[in-house]
Amino acid sequence: MILSRLKKFLNIFSSDLAIDLGTANTLVYVRGRGVVLNEPSVVAVADIRGKKQVIAVGNEAKLMVGKTNTQIQAIRPLREGVIADFDVAEEMIRRFIQKALDKHSLTRPMIVICVPSGSTAVERRAIQEAAENSHARKVFLIEEPMAAALGAGLPVNEPSGSMVVDIGGGTTEVAVMSLGGIAYANSVRVGGDKMDEAIINYIRRQHSLLIGDASAERVKKDIGAASMPGKGDGKKIPVKGRDLMRGIPKEIIVTERQISEALSAPVHEIVETVKVALEHTAPELAADIVDKGIMLTGGGALLRRLDDVLRTATGLPVSVAENALQCVVLGTGKALEEVGKFENILTSMY
Ligand SMILES: Nc1ncnc2c1ncn2[C@@H]1O[C@H](COP(=O)(O)OP(=O)(O)OP(=O)(O)O)[C@@H](O)[C@H]1O
Ligand SMILES: [Mg+2]
Repeated sequence: MILSRLKKFLNIFSSDLAIDLGTANTLVYVRGRGVVLNEPSVVAVADIRGKKQVIAVGNEAKLMVGKTNTQIQAIRPLREGVIADFDVAEEMIRRFIQKALDKHSLTRPMIVICVPSGSTAVERRAIQEAAENSHARKVFLIEEPMAAALGAGLPVNEPSGSMVVDIGGGTTEVAVMSLGGIAYANSVRVGGDKMDEAIINYIRRQHSLLIGDASAERVKKDIGAASMPGKGDGKKIPVKGRDLMRGIPKEIIVTERQISEALSAPVHEIVETVKVALEHTAPELAADIVDKGIMLTGGGALLRRLDDVLRTATGLPVSVAENALQCVVLGTGKALEEVGKFENILTSMY
């Protein structure tokens, strides 16, 4: 009782953090408090007298995407799960941390941050360094699929195979975990961004209309699906862009059937990645997966009928995690809260 009160009291001053630095979204979890920040991984940079300066990050910066003037640029510092623009990524992390921590925090934070399983040593070091440079006391890395599995409530430390498929903006990670380790992992650079691109290309080819990234993402979320609607064209929505023949703005109506056709290539790639993973899984672990099925996490898991498509392709039970968009940060947070229990899955590049 006294101990738990004391712990609670000390937590007020704690500033330890778990971070999911995603291609599309960054989430920050504070020990003892939960998720306190969830914003797009976007930075607005202005060219002020020849010097680059960050003028906005997150939600504020995302509103500027595709609408900037010549002096302001909206940048996504992560591409395909890894840091593409180091300085901007570091500044983004610093600002998000500042925003997440309140004045109470007296100590330098310990940070647990996730890295895609397919990232190279150089890419991992870049993520660790970016976190370290934000005044951290100590930084630990955790593999993204492991975090996703923990966040989805899978028993990763038990001697039983668990399969998770985390479909983010930049990458899809497929992994099988057992006894606190990764028995198989594969990361392909296909995710929500590739889906948006596929929609842009389809609308350009079929309708000679050029639409922006934000419009494509909206179409995907509103009517996108991993398979064709049962009958008819399904849902319909308007989308605006620039007519490539006449060069003027125009609005057209797109259908669920069209968008599911546009998404067939990225969806196929995800399905193939899952099948390859199953082929490479040791028989005893595969047997566990037959019973427990496959868990989908990440924003891409919310694409309509993706679970059905995977169920049909594999013949296995497939479920979409509750709170799919937060699984990775919640799992990273769990590892932070119980460092002792999950010591085995935390690593460091130094
Ligand atoms: N309802 C939905 N249907 C389809 N896609 C969705 C939906 N909601 C979100 N998404 C997509 O999910 C992606 C973001 O997911 P998430 O936040 O898990 O990615 P991330 O962690 O930032 O990326 P990564 O893990 O690849 O670095 C975006 O591409 C977004 O468009
Ligand atoms: Mg992610």
